[in-house]
Amino acid sequence: MSVKKLADSALATFDHDYVSDAAFAAIAARIRGDFPDGRFSFLDIGGGKGFFADRVLTEFPECTGVVLDNADLLLYANAENPRKRLVLGSATDLQAIFPAERFDVAFFNFALHHFIGTSYADTRRLQRESLRQAALMLTSAGRIAVSEITYNGALVDNLPSHVVFRLTSSKALAPVVARLGANTAGTGVCFMSAKTWQREFDRLGLATAVTREPAPARSLRSRLRLAAVSAGSVVNAHFWLTPKRQERPAR
Ligand SMILES: C[S@@+](CC[C@H](N)C(=O)[O-])C[C@H]1O[C@@H](n2cnc3c(N)ncnc32)[C@H](O)[C@@H]1O
Repeated sequence: MSVKKLADSALATFDHDYVSDAAFAAIAARIRGDFPDGRFSFLDIGGGKGFFADRVLTEFPECTGVVLDNADLLLYANAENPRKRLVLGSATDLQAIFPAERFDVAFFNFALHHFIGTSYADTRRLQRESLRQAALMLTSAGRIAVSEITYNGALVDNLPSHVVFRLTSSKALAPVVARLGANTAGTGVCFMSAKTWQREFDRLGLATAVTREPAPARSLRSRLRLAAVSAGSVVNAHFWLTPKRQERPAR
């Protein structure tokens, strides 16, 4: 299964930290709850320019982190930090990239919806596979943190996911969809409902705690998203996931 790479024009729009201050505070509280001494290692998958990683490194002066991204344009724009390492590669190849390394926290901040394959089903498999590999790379106390914009249909729960995927992945519709404000026009994007994510996590054996917040105004600006809102609600969800399996390598 191959994953599509985002166009440079789309990458250029990823110029800020998508995690709000309130969400960051909630995530920091989860980290403190599970790693009270503040000594942990993290992998920020699809970490882009490293804004989120830098905040974590500042908040927890004893932690170390790796930022992984498949876009050199973003990765090499990271600020230098002796406690931060940069790795160029795809989230769908985690096991090959890190055959022996283990992490206490694996973050997927607003990244999973960009792991796009040749069809909707293929895309869902890529997302699942990436999460599965991340779970295998955790220490025995490890956690996965997923932040996603969830699109929740009013009548059919995961319908907006299919509609937005169809519209954005169509090459023929790309000029129109781009004009509607989608930076992923012609490539595709796979937002899902909160319930659908929950089912995915259940299926992967990940126990879930969730924090929710309204999607920020800037993510509602595009008319494409507004169309999806009218079909239900758009909510940022932050999932803190604990693998239920016991046979992972010890920390
Ligand atoms: C919306 S940005 C989010 C950036 C950052 N995590 C944040 O929350 O601010 C999505 C990021 O996912 C990265 N990405 C997309 N597909 C990827 C893949 N297959 N492997 C690794 N990173 C990927 C993009 O290059 C980009 O940095």
